[in-house]
Amino acid sequence: MTMKKEILKNNKTQPNLKDYAVACKEFRWEDAENELGLSTKDGINIATSAIDTHAASWRKNKVALYWEGADGGCKEYSFGDLQRESNRVGNMLRSLGVRKGDRVFVFLPRIPELFISIIGIAKIGAVAGPMFSAFGPEAIRDRLKDSGAKVLITDSSLRERVHQVWDELPDLKTVVVTRTVEGGGGGEKLWKREVRYEEEIEKESHHMTVEPMSLDDPFYMLYTSGTTGKPKGVVHVHHDMISHYITTKWVLDLQEEDVYWCSADPGWVTGTVYGLWGPWLNGISQVVFEGRYDAERWYAVMERHGVTVWYTAPTALRMLMRAGDGPVKKCDISALRYICSVGEPLNPEVIRWGMDVYGLCIHDTWWQTETGAIMITNYPSMPVRPGSMGRPFPGVKAAIIDAQGRELPPGSSGILALKPGWPSIMRSIWKDKERYDEYFKIPGWYTTGDTAHMDTDGYFWFIGRADDVIMTAGHRVGPFEVESALVEHRAVVEAGVIGKPDPDRGQIIKAFLVLREGFNPSDELKEDIKEFIKHRLSGHAYPKEIDFCESVPKTRSGKIMRRLLKARELGLPEGDLSTLED
Ligand code: PRX
Repeated sequence: MTMKKEILKNNKTQPNLKDYAVACKEFRWEDAENELGLSTKDGINIATSAIDTHAASWRKNKVALYWEGADGGCKEYSFGDLQRESNRVGNMLRSLGVRKGDRVFVFLPRIPELFISIIGIAKIGAVAGPMFSAFGPEAIRDRLKDSGAKVLITDSSLRERVHQVWDELPDLKTVVVTRTVEGGGGGEKLWKREVRYEEEIEKESHHMTVEPMSLDDPFYMLYTSGTTGKPKGVVHVHHDMISHYITTKWVLDLQEEDVYWCSADPGWVTGTVYGLWGPWLNGISQVVFEGRYDAERWYAVMERHGVTVWYTAPTALRMLMRAGDGPVKKCDISALRYICSVGEPLNPEVIRWGMDVYGLCIHDTWWQTETGAIMITNYPSMPVRPGSMGRPFPGVKAAIIDAQGRELPPGSSGILALKPGWPSIMRSIWKDKERYDEYFKIPGWYTTGDTAHMDTDGYFWFIGRADDVIMTAGHRVGPFEVESALVEHRAVVEAGVIGKPDPDRGQIIKAFLVLREGFNPSDELKEDIKEFIKHRLSGHAYPKEIDFCESVPKTRSGKIMRRLLKARELGLPEGDLSTLED
């Protein structure tokens, strides 16, 4: 179904991508590579291209980072500052024995050290693993253990969560602790293998020799969820920078004078790619706000820094919509010229509201942790069809296919697939070749796990996930990881978890629990279980709704039938029950 109504509106500026059709015809990844100034395929490093190149140019004193703390304090870092600070982090890590290919994880709030550390890690050829600061000990343990991380950079407020699981992490040699006001810091007593960030940095030079890398060497990994098993480490390589650079330029439309704000945390792929590398590869000033969502505060951040381009998520936009016009009218956000959204379906209602309130059309973008960059999207120079994710990025071939890999005609629903070959496609799943190969099991295609259809003009329309993965408030959560954490609660013997549609968050997590003998259902117990998951696993992955039940439906081979739980919850047909356990 194609929505006839189209919107083409709103750049007061000439867009970087002037004509989509022409760009598709003439596109070559090599041109983007040349624009980025990569004269060789070896001896490169994403951090050199994103930071040092600008620090050696007229952009040396240009503000790269406008940072605003949760408490309202602000700091500015130029490209020159980021170069010097990241050099010191790189030198510190080398002094701690970190070498090319080693994993260094970063578990920090959105403070400048988070960004500086990730850059420093890339500079010495190590692999950065950003972790979301809402993670609890269980989530931290799974990631550090699987990746074999050698060093972790964290802060005074979060280190205690690491202490809880350090015993189970034989590869973790050193924890670097930065002092944050919130955690008190000054007087805290460090553990034996903990070192103080500020003291270590002080010993190091502002100069360094950046590790020469090849395009195929890894530089970051992010854990992401699937239907089965614990989260998997998606590994990305320096080659990604070509995709980061050109998608940022053409899709987010960033231009020299822009002040750009991406509201995502680098613990998620959007925050790493478009809240760090992409904009800095383009030499753009970006804003980082440490605090959480708050309508009035968000607009105040935009006003204070004069944000011109904003990349956010549908859940945030829906929350802003529900907050009404009051907060937005209190601030002057007239500098804003362009808005993009990612992570979940963007409702046409939100687009219409955005047109009314901001006078701007919100542009949807679709991609995944595995694709490493925006794949299907709307462009400033192309009419938006509200409800559609837009059209493939030039140089990317997307299609709707059947299980045999045959391309389906416009209007048919099927598997959303991409032809491998773009620079930022993931290069492995850490220590799990089988899982990696699954993405490519239909010959010639990378399968996304999403279902969609395409209209006759080549616009793609999202339908849903083909698996049990839950997208809640733009965060990807695997039911298995929540179920495993739930059964660790003393009252729970069995757990089944589904995503339940929710008008604000897209989906919420709903858990069906069987209680251990001796425990009785009660509201207090529900609250206790929610708190347990928030603290053990993560603040974003706890079940907002819990039902107690006698049993959880399973197949004869013992797999939880989440499809059935979902159908029953939503009052939908139960479908084929032939595999249901008696
Ligand atoms: O289901 C799709 C949904 O998010 C999934 C990827 O999640 P993650 O790897 O965490 O990356 C999210 C941000 C890049 C996809 O398989 N998704 C992403 N963008 C959209 C979307 N669903 C609908 N519309 C989108 N624009």
